[in-house]
Amino acid sequence: MSPSLPAGSAGVGLIGCGRIGRLHARHLAGIDGLRLAAVCDAVPAASASLAAELGVPVAGSPAALMARSDVDAVAICSPTETHVDLVVAAAEAGLPAFCEKPVSLDLAEAERAISAVAAAGTAVQLGFNRRFDPSHRAVAIAARNGELGELHIVRITSRDPVPPPHDYVVGSGGIFADMMIHDFDMARFVTGAEAAEVYAVGAVRVDPAIGEFGDWDTVASVLTHTDGTITTIDNSRQAVYGYDQRVEAFGSAGAMASQNPNVHSAIRSAPTGAASAPMPWFFAERYAESYRAEWAAFVEVLAGEPPPVTLEDGRACLAIALAATRSAQQGCPVRVAEISA
Ligand SMILES: NC(=O)c1ccc[n+]([C@@H]2O[C@H](COP(=O)([O-])OP(=O)(O)OC[C@H]3O[C@@H](n4cnc5c(N)ncnc54)[C@H](O)[C@@H]3O)[C@@H](O)[C@H]2O)c1
Repeated sequence: MSPSLPAGSAGVGLIGCGRIGRLHARHLAGIDGLRLAAVCDAVPAASASLAAELGVPVAGSPAALMARSDVDAVAICSPTETHVDLVVAAAEAGLPAFCEKPVSLDLAEAERAISAVAAAGTAVQLGFNRRFDPSHRAVAIAARNGELGELHIVRITSRDPVPPPHDYVVGSGGIFADMMIHDFDMARFVTGAEAAEVYAVGAVRVDPAIGEFGDWDTVASVLTHTDGTITTIDNSRQAVYGYDQRVEAFGSAGAMASQNPNVHSAIRSAPTGAASAPMPWFFAERYAESYRAEWAAFVEVLAGEPPPVTLEDGRACLAIALAATRSAQQGCPVRVAEISA
């Protein structure tokens, strides 16, 4: 254990030392009330390098990790297809868990996770981190408090700077379940209303290989919520100027929008005009504050508070993602209830 970590904090065992696992390990190790207890990965070199960096032991498997006496909770950061089995294993071990999104690519599997956690009486917090971004959250609070009047339209833009590796795309479940699922959650978070229907379109405008995998890299969805609010969302796997993340809520009394931050606030002025610094490159930089905040929220969950983002949120967003995928494939609107039935 690192001597700098506070004593008396909850030990988190982290599973999956890839892109997001490494990020979470570094953040959670710095949160008051949490301590990184051990890490594991299917690829020994991945866990060994992270363990060496953070001064924690390696567990040989998720089961070995969960059996450690210094592990009080589990962070599931492995690929999507492993999430449900690991959530169930954590529940059966009596351990609360943080699980990355999406919970699953299959609704019945998501329900299996929900049932196991309910039966065990444990808690799971799902990794929809954007709810913890201060700007998006301020928009959601204003919208939900009625400060914008009756909500009419929510508009969400989410564009990655570069596409993920091809092997990630193949196992991702497609752009709606992998990427736009964050925005479906944001739409529910801002409106406070479930999506009743989705109409989605998809195109391959960035990387032809993504199309060969049966996926799209450029998509848009229109959601009609149960209260009549409309949400529009656009996603691209490649925005050459950086990680473009904006949320706007528009209502009868006004509008409120989160803006992209720049890496610094200085403005260069020249005869040709003014220029600002670029925006943060990708999720690690843009959402660092949100990741820290979701871990701070997890401390409260371990203290007995209900999870701020639940497996049920994950299930609801998966149903929208599956409806959007079907809509884009079939070229017509799809009722979310048709998917859930
Ligand atoms: N919330 C976010 O901002 C965010 C960002 C990126 C990824 N994600 C999600 O996190 C998950 C992981 O994505 P990633 O980009 O880090 O993937 P990744 O491929 O970079 O890393 C996954 C790691 O898990 C390991 N692994 C695979 N199977 C395992 C098993 N059974 N047990 C232990 N380790 C195993 C792999 O060896 C790899 O090191 C995905 O579900 C993804 O949707 C969330």
